Amino acid sequence: HQEPRTEHRARIAIIGGTGLYKLPGAVVLDTLDITTPFGPPSSAVTVARLATQAGPGDEDGDGGGDGEGPLVAFLSRHGRGHSVAPQQINYRANLWALKSLGVEAVISSAAVGGLVSSHGTGTFAVPDQVLDKTWGRADTFYDGSLPTGVQHLPAAEPYSAPLRAALIAALERRSEDFAGAGTVAVINGPRFSTKAESAALVQSGAQLISMTQYPEPMLAAELNMHFAALAFITDADTGHDGSEPVTADLVLGRLAAAQPRILAVLSDAVRTVSAGLASAEPANDGGMWRMALMPPAA
Ligand code: ADE
Repeated sequence: HQEPRTEHRARIAIIGGTGLYKLPGAVVLDTLDITTPFGPPSSAVTVARLATQAGPGDEDGDGGGDGEGPLVAFLSRHGRGHSVAPQQINYRANLWALKSLGVEAVISSAAVGGLVSSHGTGTFAVPDQVLDKTWGRADTFYDGSLPTGVQHLPAAEPYSAPLRAALIAALERRSEDFAGAGTVAVINGPRFSTKAESAALVQSGAQLISMTQYPEPMLAAELNMHFAALAFITDADTGHDGSEPVTADLVLGRLAAAQPRILAVLSDAVRTVSAGLASAEPANDGGMWRMALMPPAA
């Protein structure tokens, strides 16, 4: 492992989908190739500085780009050019890379499907629960391969309450339509669901469906980082609202159209979270990741 060489310690990070490498008005300072004990993350991590504040009449939320605001780190979940499939993402390397930079809070930006009418297409959601239907993903740092050995993470509340509250406050300030909670079912992909599978997930209590919201929250919790998701609902999955069943083109097209809205909410949230972190004690990381990075005894 090499320590990432950067002067710029971002305390907050965004894990973004395709096309999200920086926020509007942000000035990129560093592009870091980080190695981890689990292999390389999906992409280089960029560190950027936001504008100080959203200026008056700043409809696009870019704050004018003075580049003197908080630092933020970005990692592209699927790699640049969307080259990594959901079940092949090295989630452990991605979260480890952010932790190794000193990140304390991670906002995961995700396109999701809405399974019920309370979570409609074109609106946002801030999920509070996860229903894992994936298989075969490396979903823990506590599998015995690190010096910390086997441990059992309490996972009753997989998302950080204060970080979720910050996202909800940002959505309110941007006057966005959103659901302030929801259970996100996570399927393995890369295929979408059948109608029967979709109906079964609703029966199980899910309102949202994703391919990437597992194991990100669990890995962040194991590394003692705050983690919350800003979910944008691109589709009604198999069509509970009478719409056509979801396709990848439909997801990507709707995501591209909504990009300015998503970025504006993220910028707003990063500013308030950074202000909060600045006045808080650095998170106690439990020493787990540091132990794993200690050089082997000579
Ligand atoms: N991501 C966006 N829409 C989705 C859906 N309907 N199912 C799974 N993942 C998604």
